[in-house]
Parts: sequence; C-alpha cells; structure tokens
Amino acid sequence: KKIILSGIQPTGVFTLGNYLGAVRSWKQMQEDYNCYYFIADLHSMTIHIDPQKRRQQTREAFALLLACGIDPEKSLVFVQSHNKCHAEMGWIMDCCSQFGELSRMTQFKDKSAKHPDNINAGLFTYPALMAGDILLYQADYVPVGADQTQHLEFTRDVATRFNHTYGEVFKLPEGYFPKAGARVMSLQDPTSKMSKSDTNPKATISILDDEKTILKKFKSAVTDSEACVRFDPEAKPGVSNLMTIYSAITGKTMEEIEAEFAGKGYGDFKAAVGQSVADELRPIRENFARLMEDRAYLEEEMRKGAERATYIANKTLTKVKKRVGLLLEK
Ligand code: TYM
Repeated sequence: KKIILSGIQPTGVFTLGNYLGAVRSWKQMQEDYNCYYFIADLHSMTIHIDPQKRRQQTREAFALLLACGIDPEKSLVFVQSHNKCHAEMGWIMDCCSQFGELSRMTQFKDKSAKHPDNINAGLFTYPALMAGDILLYQADYVPVGADQTQHLEFTRDVATRFNHTYGEVFKLPEGYFPKAGARVMSLQDPTSKMSKSDTNPKATISILDDEKTILKKFKSAVTDSEACVRFDPEAKPGVSNLMTIYSAITGKTMEEIEAEFAGKGYGDFKAAVGQSVADELRPIRENFARLMEDRAYLEEEMRKGAERATYIANKTLTKVKKRVGLLLEK
C-alpha cells in the first residue's frame, strides 16, 4: 500500500480552507492507503501563542481530526512533538538545507512581513522541519492545499540532494491536491487565501461555525455587480471562490453550477452555497462536542499514536544517522 502523510498546525479551529484543501482528502484516502496524520505543534511554535492556549488548541486539533472522520483504527494519528524523531530529523534536515533556497520561500516572506517583531530562526527553517516530517515516513503522497506546493518542492530537492550525497535513503514524495478546494479564498477579500489568522471573522468559515453563522457569512460574502453566476477567477474572484466551494462539496462541475443558477440572483446562489456548507459541517460539530467530553479517550489515542509513529519514524532516522556518520549508541 502507498503511504500518505500530512500535518496541520494547531493554531486555531480549522477553516473551511483547511477542510476542503486537505482534511477531507485525508478522510477519503484512509480507505485505500496507509495514512499518517499529525498535529504540527512544533511548527506552530514559529508564531507566538500563549502556552496554555497552545496546549488547549493541540488537544482540540486532535479531536477535530477525529471529528472530521479520521479514524484512529484506520489511520495513524499523533501529535508531532510526541515523536521525538521529528525534532532530531529536523536538525539533520536544517544542515542539508541552504540559506539561499530557504530565503526564497514565499511563506517565510509573507509571515515575516506579517510578524516583523518575531522573525525567529524557526520561521526560516520551517520547511526543513516539514521535509523531515515527510521523509521520516517515506511518504508517497502528501495531501495538502496549493499553498504548500513550494514546501513540497523543497522537500524533494533536499531528499534528492541527500540521496545523492549519502546514497539512496529517501523516497521522493508527491503532492496530492483536491480537484476543487486546493485554494479556498477569503470571503471578504477573494484575492487572498482563507486563513485561520484572519482578523476579520466574516472572512473565514470555521468548521465549528453553526448553521446560522455560516449562512450569514455567505450572505455577506464579497461578489461583484454583474449578477451572473459564471466561473472566471480573474474577473470574478468572489463568485468563482463560492463556486469552487460549492463544487468541492456537491461534486457538481462549474458548468452544472452555472446552469443551476442561470437567471437567478446572487441571493439564491449564496444561500445554496451556505446551506451546502452548513449541511457538510453539522456532523463534524456534533462529533467534536462529543469527543471533547471524553478526555481519557483522546489521551489514550494520542499515546497509542505517538508510540506507533515513533516506532515507524525511528527506522528511517537510524538509517539517516548511520549514513551521515553519527555514531549510534550501542
Ligand atoms: P496549515 O496548518 O497551515 O494548513 C493545513 C492544511 O490546510 C491547507 N490549507 C488550505 N487549503 C485550501 N485553501 C486554503 N485557504 C487553505 N489554508 C490552508 C494547507 O495547504 C494544509 O494542507 N506546513 C503545514 C503543516 C505541516 C505539514 C507537514 C503538511 C507540517 N509538516 C508535513 C504536510 C506534510 C501547514 O502549515 O499547514
């Protein structure tokens, strides 16, 4: 079976973008592949969060994954920092990464512009830690949103270089992007991506928003004055984003959606999109509430996940250490 690996940061409740761009594929893939999914708490340290809040968000993110249908009986689910191999491998990957290539990462440029008061070294070497995450498990496919493309390219570059220098160790992973939903945009500024850290709550749908909130946010989504439901991301970014969301959830093509709303106003269209999202997210919200009641269950699943993840990752890490000439302890 092919190996799937992906991670998500515990920096707040997942957005509809995280869900449609990544987590929904994770759920679908667990039927056919060997899937490893984790909460990237080490990556979240690149942004300052109150420690108590980080702990809480990590627990919630773990519960959210299960609530979204990631089944610990089918997939390996764990918290990144619970498997010490990630930090160790991260350092080795740091030493295989070049300053120049890390400097070209657009996410680093964006995030350092956004947080000029905290441009820490971790923010800069973030892609090396991520490369380590992926390579530790010899992943074949990495299901992510389009914003992670550059990090995946970087991972392949580092892996290729390592294999070349020290001999074949790593499999080269490929990105896996959903047909619709790989880039969900903000509802208020459809030229920028929907992001957990957006300060305008109307711009993002949280996967725990209730039906009323979801309908209201879609109602106030930014569109245009043409009053025609037509897919054209350049000229009509707002409408096209709503169509993308609707297509991702219903499986309808853009042509089918255009036909469905031909001659109707944006009011009907936005209400239909909002309703489809609300229906999709309702069970997740209910599952989440139930899971958060059962802390013992969550802790037990985290413990089991950490143990298995460590066992698997340690095999690659040991091989890597041997190859680079770190003396193994006897
Ligand atoms: P993170 O936590 O920012 O996002 C988690 C996943 O959600 C996707 N995503 C989106 N997809 C579509 N539209 C959007 N608006 C949108 N916003 C976010 C992201 O592409 C991602 O797939 N670096 C990763 C976490 C990570 C990781 C890894 C992923 C750490 N190590 C190893 C894969 C493999 C991140 O920050 O994701």
